[in-house]
Amino acid sequence: MAHLVSTSCSLKISSSCKPCFRPFNQGSSAFPTSFTLQTSKSPFRRLLLHEERPQRSCEVHASTFPTSQEAPTKTSSGSHQSSHEPSKQQRVMVIGGDGYCGWATALHLSNKGYDVAIVDSLIRRLFDHQLGLDSLTPISSIHSRLRCWKSLTGKSIELYIGDICDFEFLSETFQSFEPDAVVHFGEQRSAPYSMIDRSRAVFTQKNNVLGTLNVLFAIKEFREQCHLVKLGTMGEYGTPNIDIEEGYITITHNGRSDTLPYPKQASSFYHLSKVHDSNNIAFTCKAWGIRATDLNQGVVYGVRTDETEMHEELSNRFDYDGVFGTALNRFCVQAAVEHPLTVYGKGGQTRGYLDIRDTVQCVELAIANPARPGEFRVFNQFTEQFSVNELATLITKAGEKLGLNVQTISVPNPRVEAEEHYYNAKHTKLIELGLKPHLLSDSLLDSLLNFAIKYKGRVDTKQIMPSVSWRKIGAKTRTLTA
Ligand SMILES: NC(=O)c1ccc[n+]([C@@H]2O[C@H](COP(=O)([O-])OP(=O)(O)OC[C@H]3O[C@@H](n4cnc5c(N)ncnc54)[C@H](O)[C@@H]3O)[C@@H](O)[C@H]2O)c1
Repeated sequence: MAHLVSTSCSLKISSSCKPCFRPFNQGSSAFPTSFTLQTSKSPFRRLLLHEERPQRSCEVHASTFPTSQEAPTKTSSGSHQSSHEPSKQQRVMVIGGDGYCGWATALHLSNKGYDVAIVDSLIRRLFDHQLGLDSLTPISSIHSRLRCWKSLTGKSIELYIGDICDFEFLSETFQSFEPDAVVHFGEQRSAPYSMIDRSRAVFTQKNNVLGTLNVLFAIKEFREQCHLVKLGTMGEYGTPNIDIEEGYITITHNGRSDTLPYPKQASSFYHLSKVHDSNNIAFTCKAWGIRATDLNQGVVYGVRTDETEMHEELSNRFDYDGVFGTALNRFCVQAAVEHPLTVYGKGGQTRGYLDIRDTVQCVELAIANPARPGEFRVFNQFTEQFSVNELATLITKAGEKLGLNVQTISVPNPRVEAEEHYYNAKHTKLIELGLKPHLLSDSLLDSLLNFAIKYKGRVDTKQIMPSVSWRKIGAKTRTLTA
């Protein structure tokens, strides 16, 4: 069996192997004895794949397996149908498919009969190594995950390891896989990470903005009809003192009216990168006729989906630390180890939230009902809104039912944000397309807490408190020490 010896940043295929470029796939029988890929970025100068049995070929080949009878097929307009007609199966490229939302989505789409490829640089795993963090759940290598998925379901997910900021890599990936839809999760997605120091701020904006720009160019160049489903965030809107609409607002000014992009007020270098992405996508829809859906996602909680539950090796990551942990997930882990719940400041910060099972549903709905050519469509992707104090109260009650001693403390807010404010964001478009939300019920909280309790032996309590201050960010590179 092949395995990845080194993780990767940007990969360039060395000229000797270039003509044989194929996706890495764990199910292949044609792995080379030793396969060397050159990478352009230090410290990852070489990537080696080893195979126990000698092989003559340098080709790493992906096999396509027959999928379920309900396999989604593509009509000439690109829309989804569940049909038995012999028509081409929809091919979906999931960029960032080794991450929290991407992994769950890739498995869900594969299970639903889409032909799926994961594109990922694995840099999220590197962030953990650099910052001394770890997922609450043990997570297998991407290769073991995909092997396990194939052995359980017979379905292959193709794998392309590389950095989408490397256009040569992305071009080859597009030409090799020929996606009908691209779901783009592949960004640095932590606001605190982007506020650690200058180098992380610069990295976040380069990685996210240039990566997305490359995806837009790849679509224009190689797959004009391909539908881009891009993960944005509700954080792009900030907290205005009026209702938040889904992407656009009709304004009457000096007697004239127009429907305009809803104003964005991002509050970290990460959130700003998402705003720049949205602007670039909107522009290319207009200029080049790209079809795109921007999913302004709320805060995601939970870890289990139908597919990740099938086997321990398919487990998703679960971040609880002060850099990558999201609010509700963090509180569950804090309650499980009886660490006081850390409310930042006054705790009136209100945001939209959704269950990870709804993330995968929303993405599927967006793919199945694609944007028209030239359309820049925006959906607000969340199901309920809560303040931080409301979440703390819910977790306290659920914890007490399980016999846990749950306290809450207010810690100085490391962020610059309103701590008490009006918040009412619209979120009807995905419901209209058929989203059936999993709302945060008592039983769901019980199961989330029980899940955190199961893994509490893995919790490093030193990672819980916030360690990154929006006001204290400086130019000097920082090493975070717990
Ligand atoms: N998790 C949330 O609560 C949440 C909320 C709102 C929006 N989002 C958005 O959803 C997307 C996914 O979030 P997540 O929580 O799954 O993040 P994650 O960090 O777990 O996953 C992102 C994946 O993208 C990969 N990646 C990053 N840069 C890349 C590059 N240049 N080339 C190739 N791969 C790259 C990483 O290795 C990682 O596997 C992000 O765009 C994020 O902004 C997430």
